[in-house]
Amino acid sequence: MDKFIIEGGQTRLEGDVVIEGAKNAVLPLLAATILPKNGKSVLKNVPILLDVFTMNNVVRGLDIEVDFDQDNNQVTVDASKPIKDIAPYEYVSQMRASIVVLGPILARNGHAKVSMPGGCTIGSRPIDLHLKGLEAMGAKISQSGGDITATAEHLKGAKIYMDFPSVGATQNLMMAATLADGMTTIENAAREPEIVDLAQFLNKMGADVRGAGTETLTIYGVSELKGAEHDVVQDRIEAGTFMVAAAMTSGNVLIKDAVWEHNRPLISKLLEMGVSVTEEDKGIRVQSDVSQLKPVLVKTLPHPGFPTDMQAQFTALMAVVNGESTMIETVFENRFQHLEEMRRMGLQTEILRETAIIHGGKELQGAPVMSTDLRASAALILTGMVANGETVVGKLSHLDRGYYHFHHKLASLGASIKRFSED
Ligand code: UD1
Repeated sequence: MDKFIIEGGQTRLEGDVVIEGAKNAVLPLLAATILPKNGKSVLKNVPILLDVFTMNNVVRGLDIEVDFDQDNNQVTVDASKPIKDIAPYEYVSQMRASIVVLGPILARNGHAKVSMPGGCTIGSRPIDLHLKGLEAMGAKISQSGGDITATAEHLKGAKIYMDFPSVGATQNLMMAATLADGMTTIENAAREPEIVDLAQFLNKMGADVRGAGTETLTIYGVSELKGAEHDVVQDRIEAGTFMVAAAMTSGNVLIKDAVWEHNRPLISKLLEMGVSVTEEDKGIRVQSDVSQLKPVLVKTLPHPGFPTDMQAQFTALMAVVNGESTMIETVFENRFQHLEEMRRMGLQTEILRETAIIHGGKELQGAPVMSTDLRASAALILTGMVANGETVVGKLSHLDRGYYHFHHKLASLGASIKRFSED
């Protein structure tokens, strides 16, 4: 397995960085390509990531033609032939997000068998909201041998209230409802930009999804969908990671094509700390002087609250800001494993259930550390850039799931970082 070696201490990031299409948008978009029986779907601005390869394989496993033109960041999907209704364990087990194929396969075929998902180790990640919503639409659900089986001759529109605005459940139910009989409403729906992106794609296919980006989604079922073309929205988490990287290295970085509106919760915290964040024609510029920054309190919440996917990276910033900062993680339990690794680099922190107090501004020392999940990997790499001496970050398979050429991009901004194969 590969590792990064980072020489830290004096890093100051400067220059421009280009952001990819969003991982969390493209995965449900690929699931949506299962729905149309006519025409090809073309996704553009697709990031070259391990999770995208995995999702392509999940879709291919249904006997659907998937072509990934990596030179042009474009995926073309032809689902016009009859499709299988079993999502293979081999790939589903690698990635939790693959559960979003359940709704589309069921809606199209009347029957679906999907393995229980695997994925990041960031706490218990149930799928009860996905299943309850499909049941409300008339599906019979059973679980055995690690598989979920769902059957419904024809899904029926339903009124669904979600106990929590789950992103994946909202996507699954939205896709299932596009081909259901009548109207479906999803109350307390997730409002993430990736939900809006999916709704736009579905509507281009001929669906009638209204209210995306608000708490209530209304979907009027149609009899069939056709393939469509769509540009994947920019990755707000990748953009946010570079914003934090610039802030914690007293840098000056233009994050090209980053969308201000999508990063507003993060930007507001950076501004509160004293970081300069400005909108330019080509993107968002972040400039800072770490010695002048103030500690803050951050609480992760569903969008438009502070994103849990920026929590780990933001704690790395808190670690270099003088004073006591607080991070409260309300979306996932057990999402502070990176702090245990950062302790090995000299971080002073106390963790009590969902709250971490970070005593920032103390000297950090490079050390060998292990990535524990995708965003934790990014946080450890950022910390390595500001810690004195050498940091070795292992288990990079997590990072490859969600960041394209992360080390090349950081190196082009001035970081001393190299990737080595341990073989
Ligand atoms: C998506 C993102 C992930 C992000 C998360 C929260 C993708 C591919 N992944 O994951 O990067 O961290 O949103 O912004 O888009 N829950 C239930 N029952 C359910 C479903 C979820 O209790 O049926 C709980 C989870 O345990 C968790 C919370 O809801 O505590 C949020 O999960 P959810 O929004 O579903 O996250 P994902 O869609 O898995």
